[in-house]
Amino acid sequence: MTEPTIEDYFVENRTFPPPRGFADTALVSDRSLYEEAAADPEAFWARQARELVSWFDDFHTVLEWELPFARWFVGGTLNVSYNCLDRHVEAGRGDKVAFHWEGEPGDTRTLTYAELLDEVCRFANALKGLGLQRGDRVAIYMPMIPELPVAMLACTRIGVAHSVIFGGFSPDSIIDRVNDAEARAVITADGGFRRGAPSLLKPNVDAALPSTPTVEHVVVARRTHSDVDMVEGRDHWYHELIAGAGADCPPERMHAEDLLYLLYTSGTTAKPKGIMHTTGGYLTQVAFTHRYVFDLHPDDDVYWCAADIGWVTGHSYIVYGPLANGATSVIYEGTPDTPGRDRLWDIAERYGVTQLYTAPTAIRTFMKWGHEEPAKHDLSKLRLLGSVGEPINPEAWMWYHTHVGGGRCPIVDTWWQTETGAQMISPLPGVTELKPGSATFPLPGISAEVVDDHGDPIERGGGYLTLTRPWPGMLRGIWGDPERYEATYWSRFPGRYFAGDGCKLDDDGYLWLLGRVDDVMNISGHRISTTEVESALVDHDAVAEAAVVGASDDVTGQAIIGYVILKGRVEASPELVEEIRQHVSVKIGPTARPKRVFVVPDLPKTRSGKIMRRLLRDVAEGRDLGDTTTLADATVVDAIRAGASADAGED
Ligand code: WTA
Repeated sequence: MTEPTIEDYFVENRTFPPPRGFADTALVSDRSLYEEAAADPEAFWARQARELVSWFDDFHTVLEWELPFARWFVGGTLNVSYNCLDRHVEAGRGDKVAFHWEGEPGDTRTLTYAELLDEVCRFANALKGLGLQRGDRVAIYMPMIPELPVAMLACTRIGVAHSVIFGGFSPDSIIDRVNDAEARAVITADGGFRRGAPSLLKPNVDAALPSTPTVEHVVVARRTHSDVDMVEGRDHWYHELIAGAGADCPPERMHAEDLLYLLYTSGTTAKPKGIMHTTGGYLTQVAFTHRYVFDLHPDDDVYWCAADIGWVTGHSYIVYGPLANGATSVIYEGTPDTPGRDRLWDIAERYGVTQLYTAPTAIRTFMKWGHEEPAKHDLSKLRLLGSVGEPINPEAWMWYHTHVGGGRCPIVDTWWQTETGAQMISPLPGVTELKPGSATFPLPGISAEVVDDHGDPIERGGGYLTLTRPWPGMLRGIWGDPERYEATYWSRFPGRYFAGDGCKLDDDGYLWLLGRVDDVMNISGHRISTTEVESALVDHDAVAEAAVVGASDDVTGQAIIGYVILKGRVEASPELVEEIRQHVSVKIGPTARPKRVFVVPDLPKTRSGKIMRRLLRDVAEGRDLGDTTTLADATVVDAIRAGASADAGED
């Protein structure tokens, strides 16, 4: 190879073996699962499918694979809501709490497995009463209230595929998604509570509906008691439908490969992609990963995934994985700073949360707010922490480990995507020695390789992450567009799934995710990942969050521009900015030192918390902003632009 695919600078040498006490009681504390899976991956997944999932009819073929189309557990029939609810109730666990739900205003609702089953059956009958049938699609646009998982499970019960649309999206996003899926109904709510106030949803649905000809019915859950328009014949109150529906609703016998849900994710073109997930393989892999990655002891644990159900993380690790495993979970409706910046820690303490799963963007926000906030609460029940959504910078990892985990909790840094359906690269907490910032190794049954520009596997250094074998939870396609499916994921490196992420391998074979390859910068011919420079910036004591972009530069092709948010009480000064730049030089080398560093009050993020580097590149290059519709807070960029013209920090 002539030049490195992506250069490899950041060195992180700290290691954390599984704590003794943890490994002693862990579900897995040796390499047996890895060995079993390596010896015969299909047999391994077949065993998981039979142990973790209840089938009406057993499958006859584990895998049919005609690249890029996979069919798992062929011949098997099952029902997801049966697996998530009925079988636990039948086993005498009906009184076990499925969800401790807490609204933002502080109201609460506890749902046992028996109560959840009852409500799901009633709502499933109500949907049937509206004429919905096996094979239909329904859009769900709701806040984080119990009716949201109920609606999803009710769909699975009657063989209707759901398409959950994140509650923060606009009417335009609803139109695109509803029309692409040809949804026959929309399930929504009057609104939900965000930052101490009602945030209305129904008016967005009303604004979308004139442009969505396939929608016949709208179901509205009452949450905020806001005044909303109800159209006679089309719109129905959830509570009225439930009250009039019977509680007996036998689960449909679905085929393993029947569509379970669509989840739209943005692509490079404007049209979002409807990622297709099917029934048997998906449920197997989410149950497997939820059990072993989080070391779930369902009788003792109170598990909390603090994501939104509107994202894949919430589908797999709030709804389907935890319920399939009979877990007790927490669901929280609102924002982490309402009424105070310790809301999450307050909830964790009150419910005795044992496993917490959140995103690096949230962790860096908590760092900015200061470790005094978690210190106000007794978090001693926590025994495991998880991270998902972005590379976690080593300093954020250390902060999470120290100030949330009390130095005693393993952290599972889980790499996966909407497309993969379930976790793919992650430690097993009783087995894997951790390195802060590394997602470590592929899980048992998963096979990943890092390749160079030519698609040849590399043993060390940076390249592209690929997956070399089909996996049960994999996407089965893009709704209505098989060519785009093949072109997006399977054509860049023939025979391999290309995830779109950069990744490096260290001397010990650990995988370090480097962010989206579109974010790789080219500085005088050096291909440097934004993630590594950001980690070096966040490594500086004064820095809470950082984003880095490559802006075009006459001399070096691209120049590194850094945007940093300082921690709580730190004052910005030209000396500090210079010190921060030099810190990168010392930490990873002069080539990676940002040409300029701007101190900013906030960073532009998507609503799932991923930094929108494209917008920062536009600012850095003095361009008008392109599409900002997926931005969580559009005023952020103006603030940055105003600051960027005032600041300094050049060579
Ligand atoms: C990124 C979220 C590094 C990655 C489940 C991936 C990560 C994209 C990690 C998928 C991680 C997710 N380390 N990067 N642990 N987890 N990513 O579809 O770039 O919202 O391709 O799924 O997030 O985002 P998505």
